[in-house]
Amino acid sequence: MTSEPSRPSQPNHPALSNLLQEDRRFPPSPEFAAQAVATKELYDEAARDREGFWAKQARELLTWSKDFEQTLDWSDAPFAKWFAGGQLNAAYNCLDRHVEAGNGDRVAIHFEGEPGDTRSYTYAELTREVKRAANALTELGVERGDRVAIYLPMIPEAAIAMLACARIGAPHSVVFGGFSADALNSRINDAQAKVVITSDGGYRRGTPSALKPAVDAAIAKGADTVKHVLVVRRTGQDVDWTDGRDMWWHDAIEAASEEHTAAPVDSEHPLFILYTSGTTGKPKGILHTTGGYLTQCAYTHKNVFDLKPETDVYWCTADVGWVTGHSYAVYGPLANGATQVMYEGTPDTPGRDRWWAIVAKYKVSILYTAPTAIRTVMKWGEQLPAKHDLSSLRLLGSVGEPINPEAWIWYRRVIGGDRTPVVDTWWQTETGAIMISPLPGVTEAKPGSAMVPLPGIVADVYDDEGKPVPTGSGGYLVLTEPWPAMLRGIWGDPERYKETYWSRFEDVYFAGDGAKKDDDGDIWVLGRVDDVMNVSGHRLSTTEIESALVSHEKVAEAAVVGAADEMTGQAVCAFVILRGGADEGPDIATELRNHVAKEIGPIAKPRQIMIVAELPKTRSGKIMRRLLKDVAENREVGDVTTLADTTVMRLITDKLASQPKAQED
Ligand code: WT7
Repeated sequence: MTSEPSRPSQPNHPALSNLLQEDRRFPPSPEFAAQAVATKELYDEAARDREGFWAKQARELLTWSKDFEQTLDWSDAPFAKWFAGGQLNAAYNCLDRHVEAGNGDRVAIHFEGEPGDTRSYTYAELTREVKRAANALTELGVERGDRVAIYLPMIPEAAIAMLACARIGAPHSVVFGGFSADALNSRINDAQAKVVITSDGGYRRGTPSALKPAVDAAIAKGADTVKHVLVVRRTGQDVDWTDGRDMWWHDAIEAASEEHTAAPVDSEHPLFILYTSGTTGKPKGILHTTGGYLTQCAYTHKNVFDLKPETDVYWCTADVGWVTGHSYAVYGPLANGATQVMYEGTPDTPGRDRWWAIVAKYKVSILYTAPTAIRTVMKWGEQLPAKHDLSSLRLLGSVGEPINPEAWIWYRRVIGGDRTPVVDTWWQTETGAIMISPLPGVTEAKPGSAMVPLPGIVADVYDDEGKPVPTGSGGYLVLTEPWPAMLRGIWGDPERYKETYWSRFEDVYFAGDGAKKDDDGDIWVLGRVDDVMNVSGHRLSTTEIESALVSHEKVAEAAVVGAADEMTGQAVCAFVILRGGADEGPDIATELRNHVAKEIGPIAKPRQIMIVAELPKTRSGKIMRRLLKDVAENREVGDVTTLADTTVMRLITDKLASQPKAQED
C-alpha cells in the first residue's frame, strides 16, 4: 500500500505549528564559552577545506594501525569510501589505547541495574572482558565478516558483546529487546547471523522480563545460519535449553583467555548493521563501516557534548538497540575515553525520580535524552527533580524528534538549573552520528531549533523542484555533501539504498524530514514527510504496521497514520476494514493491538484502532492518509476532491461518531 506524499509544511506536533514565532535566545554564557571544547574556528576551518578538516579529525581522534591514503573516494557515488587505505580497530580505539595511555583505572561504565544492583568497569577491566568475549566468539567459530545478532537488555554485556564483535571484525546486528520473536527472526535471517547473544531476561518496571524465549521462538521459525546462542545470566529465570546450540555467556567467558590482540581492519570494513523502519513493510539493514563512523562519533561526542574526559560523567539514556545507543552509549564515549553511566530500567522504577537519583548519585555532568522523556518527566512535576542535587549537570542534550520549545525551556530551567546549554541534535540511523546541532559555548540556541550543520557537514532545505528554499521558508531537509559516518548502504540491497536516499533529488541525500529555514537561516526540523512515524523518538513504518494488521485473519484492509500526540510526538492510529462475516467481538481493538505487538513488538501497538467500512482512496487506488490523519487528529477533514468516491470520508466520520470512543492504554 502506498500513499500520496505528505507535505513538509505540516508539522507533526501541535506545539510546532508556531515554531517560527519563537524569539527567545540563549547565547552561551561567558563562563561556559571560556572553557568550551569547541571553538568558532572549527566552522572556518571546515569551510576552508572540508576534507582536510575530516582528515585532521580522523588522525587526531583515532589511532590508526595504518594511515589512510585518501580522505574521501566518492568516485562510485553514492557509495562512499572514507579514509581509504587506512586500517584500524574500533575496539582497540575504544579500549586498549586508553589503557596504554595510562588511563586504565578510569571508570568506563558505571552500571546501575533497575533493581539497584551496581557494577563499575574501569577501562582496564572493560578491555579484559572484551578480550575474553572476543576469544569466546572466535572459539564458537565466528570469523571476520561473520554477522552476530545481539538481543540484550541495557546491561554492560551489551557493550562488551558489541566491542568483542568489533574486535574480531564481525559486524554486529543489535536488535532492540522490545522487538518480537518475528521481528528478531527476520533480522537474523536478513543478516544471516551465525551467533545470537541474548540473556535470560532483564528487569522492567520492577519485574524480570524474559528474553530467551523470544530467541528460541525466532530460531524455531527458521534461522538455519544460527549455530550458537550465548546466554547472559541476568535475572536467574528458568530458560529452555538446546544442548549443543546454547551456551552460558559466563561459561564461555570464564573459559576464554584474556590475551587478545585486536586485528586491524580496513577503514571501510563493516562495523555493524542496524535495522530501521522505512516506507515499505521490510525494515532496512543500515550498514555502517569502521573508520568514518568512529571518526564522526568521536568528533561529535567531544564537541557537541563539550567532553572533558578526565572530569565529566556522561549519561546517554538511550538503549543500545537504537542508533543513539550505538553512537553515544558505546562508540563515541568509549572512543573518547569518557566515564559514563548505563542504566537498565525505566525512569519510573521504583519511583518517578529514579533518573534524578542517578544523576545525583554519579554526579552526572552531561545528560543526553529524548523529548518524549522530557515531556513525561515534565508531566510528573518539578518537585521530583527538586528532591535531588542536580548541580553536577553542566550540559543537556536532546535527540530523536522535534523538541517543542516549552519542553526545551523546562529542561533547561528545571533540570539544567537555568544554567546549562541545551543542544538539540538532529541525525538519523542513516547518518550514524550528529549532523545538525548547536556547538555549546559557540552557537546561540533557540528553543526548538537544531540550528546549524556542524562544522564539516553541509545541509540545506530544498523545495519540490530541488532548489534551496529562501530563508523563512519550508521544504525537505537534504545533505548536500557526503559525511564520514554516512551509511554505506542497505544490507544486501544496493538498489534500495539509491532509490530511498539518492533519487528524490539529484546527487544529494534526502533525509525524509520536512524542515524550515528561519529568517536567520537556522534549521527547524519538523518531522517525517514519508510513511515513517516517530513515536517517542522511535521510528515506525506505517506500512509495516499495516502489514501486521492485515496478517490477522479478521482484517481485510488497514491504513495507519501517525497522529500528533502531546506526549509521544506521534501516536499510531489504525483504520481497519474487517473481513466480510468476521465477528467483531467485543474486544476486536485489543485483539488487533496485541496482534501487532506479537508481529512487531509492543512499541508498535496502535494507540487507537478504528473499525471502518471504507478507506479513502484516490482513483489510482492510493490511500489518502492525509485525510485519515485529519480524522485521527480531530480536525475538519481536508480537500476530498481527488477521492475516487467523495462520500467515503462522510461514511468514516459518521461510523466513528456512532462508535464508542476508541480505547487507549
Ligand atoms: C528521525 C531519525 C538520531 C537518533 C534517534 C532517532 C527524527 C531525530 C531529531 C531532532 C527533530 C529529529 C527525524 C529523523 N529526529 N533527531 N533533533 N529534531 N527530529 O534515529 O530512528 O533513525 O530516526 O528522527 O525525523 O529523520 P532514527
